[in-house]
Amino acid sequence: MNFGRSGTVTDARDSTVYDCALVELPRIAGRAGSITVLEPGKNCPFDVRRVYYLYDIPAGASRGGHAHRDLQQLIVSASGSFEVLLDDGRNRRTVMLNRPFHALHVVPGIWRELHNFSSGSICLVLASHLYDADDYFRAHDGFVTWKSS
Ligand code: TYD
Repeated sequence: MNFGRSGTVTDARDSTVYDCALVELPRIAGRAGSITVLEPGKNCPFDVRRVYYLYDIPAGASRGGHAHRDLQQLIVSASGSFEVLLDDGRNRRTVMLNRPFHALHVVPGIWRELHNFSSGSICLVLASHLYDADDYFRAHDGFVTWKSS
């Protein structure tokens, strides 16, 4: 399990897209299907305060388009596939999620956009904090200014 160097970043303004790691989760496979478990303290790098999922996503739609000051997340494609664009104001990376046993750890201070959802896909998100509208940067230029401050 590799969570990148996220544990060493103390100020979200210093985080980079390279702190966001794609991690392989354990998979218990049987004749009747598979199960994957995420447990804080074992294979989840933060205490989970909130879970949500995106579904019924129309063809061609994109989600995200924001960054968080404090929130960190694990993003999983529970079904289907989509791409996550990560942006730290200097560098960009695109990560494809297409396996329910892969999780993308998005550290605080990273702009993200979700694109190219396959039909019927489900994006499962485990989050470190309750919903807080004040934690969001919804304008990219404001985010970039904050990252360079
Ligand atoms: P948003 O975070 O913009 O979704 P996405 O990143 O998937 O595009 O949230 C969309 C709407 O849902 C917005 O009105 C806020 C609301 N919302 C909540 O009320 N609670 C939540 O936990 C989340 C994630 C969103």
